[in-house]
Order: sequence, then C-alpha cells, then structure tokens
Amino acid sequence: MSGNIIEFSNLRKSYGQGDSRIDVLKGIDCKIKRGSICTLLGPSGSGKSTLLNILGGIESFEEGSVIVDGLELNNLSKDDLLRYRRNKLGFVFQFYNLVSNLTLRENIEVGAYLSQEALDIDELMEVLGLTDHQMKFPNQLSGGQQQRTAIARALSKGPAILLCDEPTGALDYKTAKDVLEMIQKINKEYKSTIIIASHNIAIAQMSHEVLSLHDGTILEHKINDKLVDARDLVW
Ligand SMILES: Nc1ncnc2c1ncn2[C@@H]1O[C@H](COP(=O)(O)OP(=O)(O)OP(=O)(O)O)[C@@H](O)[C@H]1O
Ligand SMILES: [Mg+2]
Repeated sequence: MSGNIIEFSNLRKSYGQGDSRIDVLKGIDCKIKRGSICTLLGPSGSGKSTLLNILGGIESFEEGSVIVDGLELNNLSKDDLLRYRRNKLGFVFQFYNLVSNLTLRENIEVGAYLSQEALDIDELMEVLGLTDHQMKFPNQLSGGQQQRTAIARALSKGPAILLCDEPTGALDYKTAKDVLEMIQKINKEYKSTIIIASHNIAIAQMSHEVLSLHDGTILEHKINDKLVDARDLVW
C-alpha cells in the first residue's frame, strides 16, 4: 500500500478552561506518506508530544479529523482505540517505561504479546546489540541499552507505525547515533512509518519529511529529497 498513512485536518487541542486555557494545536492540517520517517521539530511547548499522543490514540482532541491507516480516530470507541494501539502502533517514550521486575528479553516479549505479526525476538535483539544482555533487569542496563530495549519492545509486534518521543533525548552522542542508525534501518527493512518528536535538528537530515511546529501551528512541512545516512549525521 502506498499513499498517505496519516492525515489530519483542522486538528484542534487545548488544555484548561477560561483564563487558564492554552490552545496547544490551533487547527493544523497535514498528510504524511506511508513509509516515511517524519520528524516533528519545534521549541519546547510547541505541541510535539501532544500531536504524537493524539496520533497514538492516548490523548483526545476537540475538533478536526485524524485518519491513521484508514481509521478515523474520532469515531473509534474505547475498545477500538485499544485495538488500534495494539495492532498498528509502537510507542517509544522518552523515559523508556520498562518494567523493572522483568528481564530485558521479557520486556520485549510483552510488546510482542497478542500480535499477529510479531517479529522474531532473537533477531531483533541481535540487530539491536542486546543479545548478550537479555537476562539482565532494567537497573542492570545502561541508558542506551534501556533505550534500545524500549525500541525493541515497540518494534516487536511489527507495527505499521512507530511513534518516538525524544528517542535520543537522554543519550550520549555515540549512543544517540546508534539509536538513529537503528531507526533508519527499521524504516528500510520493515517499511515502518516512523514519527519522531525531537529537539535535535540533525535528525531532520535523515527524515523524508520534516514538520516544524510553532505555537500550535505548522510553520513548514518540508519534503526532503536528499537524505543523509544516520551514521554521517553530525551535531
Ligand atoms: N496535561 C496537560 N495539562 C495542561 N497543559 C498541558 C498538558 N500537557 C501539555 N500541556 C501544555 O501544552 C503545551 C504543549 O505541550 P507538549 O508537551 O506537546 O510540548 P512539546 O513540544 O512536546 O515540548 P517539549 O519539547 O518540551 O517536550 C505546553 O504549553 C504544555 O504546558
Ligand atoms: Mg515533548
């Protein structure tokens, strides 16, 4: 399948009421192509995580329409949203959210559980350089290993869409590059559409599409025809 995997129009989201109301997304429109890496850039508070959470079906919105892989999110019941998240999405949170009393391997298995299209966990750990650590618990892993485990967990079900909130935010330079190389590899090998919210503008160079958010509006939607290999990024 080709075409657009994500389409939203007139998308509005606010928090609070009356004087304390903040309009976080002010009626934005966008189409994102299937198979893209799309990076969301913008200053702190510009609405990147909010948009990611709306696409992930974990945050509601007041107005507009959001269609992901043919599903109109505004029309889904709670159960349908749950199924949507389970069947189509992988979500990588900034602070990993690993389960502390499960081993690395078990954390990944949790992600694959119930999926029809689960990937081979041994292969995934091999690709991510985690095999030797599979029996360790999260508190015995480095930050980079935890981040890669979180990515493996999100990927293990073979999701059509991978949503990553600041996937390199807490990592050192070398580990951040390893994670970006992996994200690029996943995009190429598994054809997943990958949406990344980040402050790192270097990531834009490896992204097919770049959405610049500012104050709840889309400043620019750039299509990138000169992609840089993740390993050649410098920042
Ligand atoms: N639950 C909430 N209640 C009230 N306001 C919120 C809530 N969540 C987010 N906001 C506000 O919405 C705005 C956008 O937040 P969001 O987390 O989407 O920004 P961001 O672009 O991801 O920022 P950062 O780069 O710092 O992660 C901010 O002004 C924030 O204070
Ligand atoms: Mg954020």
